[in-house]
Amino acid sequence: MNSKNAMKKSPKVVIIGAGIAGVGAAGKLVKQGFTDIQIIEASSQPGGRIRGSPFGKSVVDEGAQYIHGASMKNPIFQLAKEHGLLQQEHNSSDPEWSVFTNTQKQLDPDFTEQMKNLASSILRRAHLLAQEKGYTQAKSLADVYLEEVKKLLLQWSGENVDLRRQKLGVLSMSMKWQCIHLATNGLGEVSVHEYEEYKSIEGDDRNFQGLFPSLLQKLLEIIPREKLLLEKPVKQILWNGSFESEDGSLYPVRVVCEDGDHILADHVIVTVSLGCLKANCQSLFRPSLPEQKLHAIQNMGFGTMNKIYLEYEDPFWDENVDIIGLVWEDETPLSGQKPNLIEWWRRVPVIYVFRPTERYGHVLVGTISGKEAEFIESLSPEEVASNFTKLLRQFTGRPSLPAPKNVFVTKWFSNSYTRGSYSHISINSTGDMIDTLAEPLPQTAEGTSSPMLQVLFAGEATHRSYHSTTHGALLSGQREADRLIDHYSTK
Ligand SMILES: Cc1cc2nc3c(=O)[nH]c(=O)nc-3n(C[C@H](O)[C@H](O)[C@H](O)COP(=O)(O)OP(=O)(O)OC[C@H]3O[C@@H](n4cnc5c(N)ncnc54)[C@H](O)[C@@H]3O)c2cc1C
Ligand SMILES: *[C@@H]1O[C@H](CO)[C@@H](O)[C@H](O)[C@H]1NC(C)=O
Ligand SMILES: *[C@@H]1O[C@H](CO)[C@@H](O)[C@H](O)[C@H]1NC(C)=O
Ligand SMILES: *[C@@H]1O[C@H](CO)[C@@H](O)[C@H](O)[C@H]1NC(C)=O
Ligand SMILES: *[C@@H]1O[C@H](CO)[C@@H](O)[C@H](O)[C@H]1NC(C)=O
Repeated sequence: MNSKNAMKKSPKVVIIGAGIAGVGAAGKLVKQGFTDIQIIEASSQPGGRIRGSPFGKSVVDEGAQYIHGASMKNPIFQLAKEHGLLQQEHNSSDPEWSVFTNTQKQLDPDFTEQMKNLASSILRRAHLLAQEKGYTQAKSLADVYLEEVKKLLLQWSGENVDLRRQKLGVLSMSMKWQCIHLATNGLGEVSVHEYEEYKSIEGDDRNFQGLFPSLLQKLLEIIPREKLLLEKPVKQILWNGSFESEDGSLYPVRVVCEDGDHILADHVIVTVSLGCLKANCQSLFRPSLPEQKLHAIQNMGFGTMNKIYLEYEDPFWDENVDIIGLVWEDETPLSGQKPNLIEWWRRVPVIYVFRPTERYGHVLVGTISGKEAEFIESLSPEEVASNFTKLLRQFTGRPSLPAPKNVFVTKWFSNSYTRGSYSHISINSTGDMIDTLAEPLPQTAEGTSSPMLQVLFAGEATHRSYHSTTHGALLSGQREADRLIDHYSTK
């Protein structure tokens, strides 16, 4: 459809969700001359899991903050560069760690570095071993990871008890950190295939702090404002039908909103999170989704990762510290596989120092995943602050360490338009399921004259190799736009 004349009537495309997948799809369609598009968003603002919130002296990211793979191979990096956003970024060089233990020790930085590297190499080896014979029974990352840890335990059996406890404590911290990257309860829930399927893009993880909302705004600029409907949750998608509009045209899809409005469409691109699909797929689609798709939705992994922002009057940390690590000497990677809601703070392995101080004030951010991350959404900021202060006093051995003056906890799990943070390949799923989820409806069936591409699926969780990221989400939206563009250009 490069020439607009090729289309008698511009097809009506409805995009559900104004996250980066939906906005990316709309942008591509607009550029190709599709004029009849509509983005329907449930929240009062676009962005979805890209969201800035006022905190302290500035605005902090509730969701995405890093460009994973800062190179021209990453479409997010490309866009950031194109829109001049990279000049404003906070340059993250080698972060300076300061690691405390629950016994008030501060660990030697070289020792910590060595142990963190060991933890990464275990994961790399776990991945390689998972593909080898003898490990074919292995299902979860924990299966292989713990196998490696057991070997180390034997190797370290002759060592000083305190040293061994510290080593295992650092490994445990690294493992919890890994769980945060995967938004999971534990490596026992993540398939060994995760590391085979997920592809890293060349380049470092660039801190894009505070800039993702600006990037989204840039993408929205090319979309006429009236194409975006906010505060309009979609309740149901009726497809495979023949719905008549006021002017007598027939459409195969009808989108029903919570407020009772009906919107007819030739094509609907669904970009709601996998968490929303898990919760609503039975009621959201009429006719119901094919069995295979339902199976994929139910079994694919989607977990919670939350951030705990803390603002202090004065810093209690050293000026040059970037990351505060918390090591529990009574933990090993073999323990702590079960959620511990009472001591939820054990799930916070690292706390980042926000920079620059001139812009943010004295702000820290802790990260947490799994059931504990979901649990703290039910606590008041005061409770979180009080528990956190107790934790920090214990680790630093400073009973007078001040309480934060401000606390903010993200709530991605209880957000009914997200229901969690991002996806991974669970032990019950495979990479193929991601492709199954991404397949448009109706499925190609010979001998039927049903219009094609009625319901299309985009969003982070539909990108096989870049799931869980902003670039994966963007590319998934553009992929579905391309599917429609190809459909009309070859017609
Ligand atoms: C805490 C956290 C940290 C992250 N950190 C990073 C990071 O550092 N780097 C990175 O690359 N990625 C990160 N991510 C992942 C990244 O944010 C997401 O992969 C990406 O933003 C998802 O975009 P999306 O368009 O697929 O989904 P979403 O952004 O979730 O968009 C879907 C939209 O659909 C709307 N919606 C839902 N239900 C309905 C309905 N019934 N009717 C209408 N609209 C509806 C939602 O409100 C939402 O706006 C992070 C995510 C979280 C939660
Ligand atoms: C960050 O680094 C880039 C490239 O080296 C540079 O152009 C930019 O000015 C730096 N930004 C800041 C805020 O220092
Ligand atoms: C995997 O499936 C089993 C059986 O349905 C279920 O009990 C378990 O909770 C699932 N695990 C994950 C991580 O999804
Ligand atoms: C779609 O409609 C056609 C014709 O009415 C019907 O044969 C087919 O079974 C329907 N498909 C689904 C998935 O309901
Ligand atoms: C966590 O904070 C709450 C509220 O202050 C308090 O009731 C609870 O005892 C704290 N937990 C611990 C173990 O300190």
